[in-house]
Amino acid sequence: MTQSDLSHEINRRRTFAIISHPDAGKTTITEKLLLYGGAIHEAGSVTAREGSSHTKSDWMSMEQQRGISITSSALSFEFDGHHVNLLDTPGHQDFSEDTYRTLTAADSALMVLDAARGVQAQTEKLFAVCRNRGIPILTFVNKMDRPAQDPFELLEQVEKSLAIRAVPLTWPIGDGPDFRGVYDLEGKRVLLFERVVRGRTRAPVSVASVDDPALTELVGAEQHAKLRQDVELIEGAIEPFDPEAFLAGEVTPVFFGSAITNFGVEHFLSRFVKLAPCPAPLHTTKGELSPEAPFTGFVFKLQANMSKHHRDRTAFLRIASGRFERGMEVVHTRTGRELRLSRAHTLFAQDRESIDVAYPGDIVGLVNPGVFRIGDVVSVSKDVHLEGFPRFTPEHFNAVTPRDVSKRKAFRKGLEQLAEEGVVQIFYPTDGARDPIIGAVGQLQFEVFEHRMNEEYGVDLIMSSTNYKVVRWLAGEPDNLARFAKHVEDDAGRPVMLFTSSWDLDYTAKQHPELEFLPQPRDL
Ligand code: G4P
Repeated sequence: MTQSDLSHEINRRRTFAIISHPDAGKTTITEKLLLYGGAIHEAGSVTAREGSSHTKSDWMSMEQQRGISITSSALSFEFDGHHVNLLDTPGHQDFSEDTYRTLTAADSALMVLDAARGVQAQTEKLFAVCRNRGIPILTFVNKMDRPAQDPFELLEQVEKSLAIRAVPLTWPIGDGPDFRGVYDLEGKRVLLFERVVRGRTRAPVSVASVDDPALTELVGAEQHAKLRQDVELIEGAIEPFDPEAFLAGEVTPVFFGSAITNFGVEHFLSRFVKLAPCPAPLHTTKGELSPEAPFTGFVFKLQANMSKHHRDRTAFLRIASGRFERGMEVVHTRTGRELRLSRAHTLFAQDRESIDVAYPGDIVGLVNPGVFRIGDVVSVSKDVHLEGFPRFTPEHFNAVTPRDVSKRKAFRKGLEQLAEEGVVQIFYPTDGARDPIIGAVGQLQFEVFEHRMNEEYGVDLIMSSTNYKVVRWLAGEPDNLARFAKHVEDDAGRPVMLFTSSWDLDYTAKQHPELEFLPQPRDL
């Protein structure tokens, strides 16, 4: 393989994740993207969701069945000469650290909004994560076949609540029962919506301009007049789309559609592969590492007990540079140990497929006999280390202990492995006598934790909520911390304090100026 073959593979890679509030249509869009990419042949095969209403118990059984949205970490397909990797962000109601970690492996993100609901709480949180990483974000406004908010208001909402400029690349013609399709503002074409035949698309119709009388025939006089007015407003009030500003994370291109009827997804995909960036350089302690450099990859996600058939642990590696080959010798840079990457695979539903070759942007699963941690690097060079791997701040804290004391060993193992995956964070009281405290961003994480401890480790838990609401890591290793009851340690043994409120935190900080509280959680 020559360097130019490697560049070719890098340039055609697009690795992205979807961020959305639950129910906005992430699963549906994923299915449709896979359908266009030829990775599946029938919509509905991503998760068996027939009749599912996304209740907690559905999610639990999905978790039990380990459907694709949970087992896999990236779905890949080819489209228009590009190799697309769609990273899977867990679709449950509560945000978890797992999602955050997954976003560290993406080069861009697709934000899916429900046209009636606009920007919702979870969208904001996930958006902020992408923003911090500086990755470009595309927007798909979904469910246009249902009554929607005014598209100008939606754009304004995106701009106001997310502080990013929103530039439409397509524009909806009507909504709900009056939805006729979208006008492609770049290509001056109308993509017509076909309500009758679910899932079938009609070829786009090119028009000379938005004033073309042919449009009246296509969408009706009233809709045409409205479209003309809208386009005039867009052209007058919205700056044209600037690809550079998009790549810098300052502008989001906006597409409208209806994923359930396949409408607008293919057009989005064809623009996405052209607009979205290929793999970016990796930030390391020694500066930026180009994707063209010799092989390096980093672990962004761990998962234990992927399926009942394979009760082992998998480390997901994002290739950051160079060409990956199965069986290659690399250095595990944290320990300096040499490793042979012989058991690498991709995952699709319950099946594993060995992977022989992969390129920057690709994700491979490595069987992990306890060697890997999040943020670990494997490389042909022994000097590559990540700058840090961010973690999230928990907001809920429960004390946990096994119901049956003879299960202590399994309890410890489960606790450590699930914390490693990011299901919860663990805090150990320093006196060793009290129960560990687990921290989560959302309550559902506790239920998932309890369920998995039981299913996978055979441990029944007693969980009790605590009054703690705020956590702060401490700078340095302050003396005499043992005098504080709320002093705990994280899983790396670093000093942490828990508080019942931000008032409690402020009070403690005033009383003890010798303690320095870090504003952000410590990196992993
Ligand atoms: P999520 O992964 O973001 O949680 O959303 P998901 O795709 O599961 O979609 C949530 C609900 O919205 C589903 O309905 C889905 O069918 C519906 N939906 C998705 N895209 C569209 C769209 O473009 N138009 C309309 N009208 N509906 C859409 P559900 O009743 O919860 O599930 P199901 O029984 O239909 O599968």
